Amino acid sequence: EKPYVFVTRKVPVSSLALLEEIAEVEVWPKEDEPVPYDILKEKAKKATGLFTMLSDRIDAGLLAEAKQLKVVANLAVGFDNIDIEAATEEGVVVCHTPDVLSDTTADLTFALLMAVARRIVEAAEYVKKGDWKNWAPLLLAGHDIHHKTIGIVGMGRIGTAVAKRAKGFDMTVLYHNRKKDYEGERTVGATYVSFDELVSRSDFIVCLAPLTNETINLFTYDTFKQMKESAIVVNVSRGAVIVEEDLEKALENNLIAGAGLDVFKDEPISNGHPLLRFPNVVALPHIGSASKETREEMASLSSQHIINVLKGTKPEAIVNDDVWKK
Ligand code: GLV
Ligand code: GLV
Repeated sequence: EKPYVFVTRKVPVSSLALLEEIAEVEVWPKEDEPVPYDILKEKAKKATGLFTMLSDRIDAGLLAEAKQLKVVANLAVGFDNIDIEAATEEGVVVCHTPDVLSDTTADLTFALLMAVARRIVEAAEYVKKGDWKNWAPLLLAGHDIHHKTIGIVGMGRIGTAVAKRAKGFDMTVLYHNRKKDYEGERTVGATYVSFDELVSRSDFIVCLAPLTNETINLFTYDTFKQMKESAIVVNVSRGAVIVEEDLEKALENNLIAGAGLDVFKDEPISNGHPLLRFPNVVALPHIGSASKETREEMASLSSQHIINVLKGTKPEAIVNDDVWKK
């Protein structure tokens, strides 16, 4: 009997072909609706592998009842939706999809940064609404990007890719990590500074830090107070790294010049979300890695992670390496 693998969302079919040769694969049939938690929990009880999305909650309760589960492959680089400690205790290998999405996510990060700085969304709506009656010297004038200072909070693979793009715009690149990243300093010419120095010196503050106990609520009203009035904040990691009410207050009081947000504390948000009322906020629906090519690569990689675990081969990108050693 083939092991049972549950895939929590429709993914490119080609990515499942190899997996289907060795496993009984069931795919949640809805493309844009997550599997309800209770159903996921039922499926997990008989599953050897779970192919999950960042919108699925894989908690200790689910893991405790999933007695045959060997692997959870998350279609994301982030894995804050999974209780890693519980997975490790239960002997479940957790995999994610780093590297394949770094350039794509860096492209989106830069697109969002530029969209806020140059008021691209506002300007495009202005034309479509028929408001363009005259040319004017300061019509929709924004902020320069080139030769400015960008501060990257969380300099990992994606941050390094963002820094390379920033260099092309002749920007000064600062970064802050828990640990100094010498590799980044050498390869992209980024300078390590404290978090406080980063937020006070940067024209663009770009958050790419994963959501952890240390980064949750990292950006508070005090943080925004330290920023330049011309500063633009861009978040492409996880919403909960920023206290959203504090960002709202900061925008209301003109402490900063704008924000580009691809992520929110509770996703999806509705169009009544308080941050959407500001014209200088550009909001996106968590599409950092969403290019067709990259999503296909991510799905193939997740599939391959499960195949490897089922075959007893070490997968490429394990989050909880300790489990594999056991
Ligand atoms: C997306 O947010 C990811 O973590 O890959
Ligand atoms: C995410 O994995 C990053 O390396 O930035």
